[in-house]
Amino acid sequence: MRRLLFLGLVCVVAAPLAYARAIPDPAQRHAPGNEELQKPIAQAGYSVGVNYQLQCAGCHLGNGMGSAANDTPRLTGFVGNFLKVPGGREFLVRVPGMSQSALNNAQLADLLNWLMRDGGLAGKSTPAEYQPYSAEEVAELRHVTMLNLPGTRAELIKAMRAQGIAIEDGMSD
Ligand code: HEC
Repeated sequence: MRRLLFLGLVCVVAAPLAYARAIPDPAQRHAPGNEELQKPIAQAGYSVGVNYQLQCAGCHLGNGMGSAANDTPRLTGFVGNFLKVPGGREFLVRVPGMSQSALNNAQLADLLNWLMRDGGLAGKSTPAEYQPYSAEEVAELRHVTMLNLPGTRAELIKAMRAQGIAIEDGMSD
């Protein structure tokens, strides 16, 4: 019985020490060769494709096909159609995935131009007379909040339908 009590006492005394092992070591150092602080993506200088993978592909997928189950529209072969209707050019910058991304204005402009380029995800949906975005244009549009996103998008889709554009955004089929 005394032994058992003693054992119980040892456990009570030792438990906090055991817990303490789960607390990070305040004297811990970076692994050798890994001392430098990580650069924010806006300063990292990655290629446009890498920025897309890091900032967009989590929702829109690597191939831009999106996911209806997650309410994420398809960019592939479709996103360029927004440039064919009034207000669409602004819309593409103001959607939260763009305007609130960690990318800077020049990176966002590059990303849009990369989506729309010949052989880009937008494919044939890019209008023939495509005017590239500039960092200045993105800076100006980005900070104007879109108050009614679903309503704005619905109006743009309606304007596309009126032009006879097939709505292949992966959401409505
Ligand atoms: C957290 C998920 C998520 C991320 C990350 C994201 N998006 Fe989106 N994106 C959406 C959703 C959902 C929509 C539909 C409109 C809305 O609800 O915002 C959308 C809409 C868009 C649209 C408008 C196209 C349309 O059919 O409405 C474009 C263009 C776009 N995203 C591009 C991007 C780019 C480029 C990035 C990376 C910088 C990005 N998105 C990051 C989820 C995301």
